[in-house]
Amino acid sequence: MKHTRIAILASGIGSNALALMNHFDGHPTIRTSLLISNKETCGALLPASKKNIASEVLSNAEIEDNQTLLMLLKQHSIDIVVLAGFLRKIPISVVQAFPDRIINIHPSILPEFGGKGMYGARVHHAVIEAHKKSSGITIHVVNENYDEGHYIAQFFVPVRANDDASSLDHKIRTLEQRYFPTVVEGYINSLTD
Ligand code: GRF
Repeated sequence: MKHTRIAILASGIGSNALALMNHFDGHPTIRTSLLISNKETCGALLPASKKNIASEVLSNAEIEDNQTLLMLLKQHSIDIVVLAGFLRKIPISVVQAFPDRIINIHPSILPEFGGKGMYGARVHHAVIEAHKKSSGITIHVVNENYDEGHYIAQFFVPVRANDDASSLDHKIRTLEQRYFPTVVEGYINSLTD
């Protein structure tokens, strides 16, 4: 049976990319076929090589030029793109070539605390400063209207009075580890059913 081939794009620590790679290790129908980063220092590159998953580091210019990323995804016969802490905007050529086939995770309950410049710790600082009582994660489809892709799932955590950005980050990461891989799997299954 043909596997659904996913490419994971990550920029930073890579905990979400690693959780995805671990989850799909030996999966009967879904395979992590490619890891792409825009940073040599991305924490997911070493685990990918240990798992014999192909990886590529592209410059920001290559990611944004509308050709390099698209060609790479095609060379590896990628079916689904998963953005796991990827900090560059995906070029329109790729969005159009993968309709409803690009999934992103955002560390807040969108539409709040989303949009340009809202990533990583900045999101958690903004949530704390706004005295929100809860935060969470949004797993959503990336479409041509970047922020309007439909939500696949949202999961909440309480924000307590003594939380700071660091403790909130820890809570959010726990949610991500628990839910992101299985939500990605469920979404892919819903497309192929
Ligand atoms: C995660 O909180 C993710 O939701 C956000 O950026 C962070 C990336 O963490 N988009 P990691 O690189 O996956 O560890």
